[in-house]
Amino acid sequence: MMQAGATAPEPTTVTVDLGRRSYDILIGRGVIVRAGSEIALRLPDARAAIVTDETVARLHLETLTVSLAAAGIEHVTVTIPPGEETKSFAGLGRVIDALLAARIERGDVIIAFGGGVVGDLAGFAAAIIRRGVPVIQIPTTLLAQVDSSVGGKTGINTARGKNLVGAFHQPSLVLADSGILDSLPAREFNAGYAEVAKYGLIGDADFFAWLEGNWRAIAAGWPEREHAIAVSCRAKAKAVAADERDHGVRALLNFGHTFGHALEAAAGYSDRLLHGEAVAIGMVLAHEFSVRHDLSPPADTGRVVDHLAEVGLPTRISDVPGDKPSAEALMERIAQDKKVEHGRLNLILTRGIGQAFVARDVDGSDVEAFLAEKLSQ
Ligand SMILES: NC(=O)c1ccc[n+]([C@@H]2O[C@H](COP(=O)([O-])OP(=O)(O)OC[C@H]3O[C@@H](n4cnc5c(N)ncnc54)[C@H](O)[C@@H]3O)[C@@H](O)[C@H]2O)c1
Ligand SMILES: [Zn+2]
Repeated sequence: MMQAGATAPEPTTVTVDLGRRSYDILIGRGVIVRAGSEIALRLPDARAAIVTDETVARLHLETLTVSLAAAGIEHVTVTIPPGEETKSFAGLGRVIDALLAARIERGDVIIAFGGGVVGDLAGFAAAIIRRGVPVIQIPTTLLAQVDSSVGGKTGINTARGKNLVGAFHQPSLVLADSGILDSLPAREFNAGYAEVAKYGLIGDADFFAWLEGNWRAIAAGWPEREHAIAVSCRAKAKAVAADERDHGVRALLNFGHTFGHALEAAAGYSDRLLHGEAVAIGMVLAHEFSVRHDLSPPADTGRVVDHLAEVGLPTRISDVPGDKPSAEALMERIAQDKKVEHGRLNLILTRGIGQAFVARDVDGSDVEAFLAEKLSQ
C-alpha cells in the first residue's frame, strides 16, 4: 500500500450532476492517500467518524487514518462485523449509538469505508442522525465502486426482505481507489465485474466489446481497471442525474436483476450465490428471453455467455450449487419483487448488446414457462 505523502497519479474525476447536491467521484490507484486533503477541501473543520468492517479495517484502515491525521482531521472509528447480517435494525442501532457517543454533529462527516454493506448502513445512519450528516463514500469492493456508492440509495434489510427500509442520501464525495481492490477475493471481484459488464449490456456495446478484450488487464489491476470503473461510474452518474429518485430510466440499471433477485432469494442469500453472480445469470436469462421473443439476435446471447463464463462467473441456473428451485417458486419471488398486475409485469429486456429497454406488460405465465424450460436443461 502507498504511504501518505507519496505521489499517486492524478485520479480520474466523474461528476454526478445533481444541482446543489452535485459531487465528484475520484477514481485511481492510491486515491485513498488523498482522502484527508480532499475532505478538508470540501468540509473544512469537520470531524470524521469512519464506519468500516473488521476485514477492511485490518487491511486498509491505517492508510486512511494516516491521511486524515496528515490533514489535521480529528477522527474516530466505528468497526462492525463484516457481512449482510449487520445491515439490520440492530446493526444500525449500534452504529448510531457509537456515532452519537462520539458527538458527531451536523457539521461533521461520516466516512463509509467498506463494501456495499458498510456503504448502505453508514449512509443510512448519516441520513437520519441529527436529521442528516454529510457522508463520504470510500468503497472498497468493485461492486461498491461501480454501483452502490454512487446514487445516494442507503438502507438496511428487515426480516421481510432486503433493502426495505432506507433513504436517499447523496454523498458529498466518492473516493474509488482501484488499488484497494487488489486484496479482494477473486470471487468478490468477479461478482462486482458482473455489474461492470451490465453497463455495457444496457447501453454501451463498444464498452462491452472493450471488456471482452481487456478483462484480464482489469482483473490484474492495470490502468484498464481504472478505465472500467470510470466508464461504469459515468453510466451510473448519468442515470442518477436523469432520474435521482428511481422513477424512470434508472430502472434500466436493474437489467438482469429481476431474475437475479429471484435466484438470490431462492438460494437464501447465502454463500451459494453472490449478488453479482445472480445478476450474471439474470442477464443471460434476460438475453435468452429476448431471443425467444425475436427481439434480440441469438449470437449476442452467445457472446454474453462466453464472456461472463471466461471471466469466471456462473451463467446458468444449473451453475448454482445445491437444490434447484422450481419455476413456480421463482415466479413467486418475481411477483414479490415486482408489481404483477393481472398476471402482467414489466421486465427489462434487450434488442441486443447495448440495447436494453423496459418491456411493459410481459405475460407472467410466459416467463414461468421459460423458467421451467431453463430449469429442465
Ligand atoms: N445502495 C445501492 O445503490 C446498492 C446497489 C447495489 C448493492 N447494494 C448493496 O451492497 C451490498 C453488497 O455489497 P458488497 O458486494 O460490496 O458486499 P460487502 O460489503 O459485504 O463486501 C463483501 C466482502 O468483502 C470484504 N471486503 C471489502 N473490501 C475489501 C477489500 N478491499 N479487500 C478484501 N476484502 C474486502 C468485506 O469485508 C465483505 O466480507 C448489499 O447489501 C446490497 O444490497 C446497494
Ligand atoms: Zn446489482
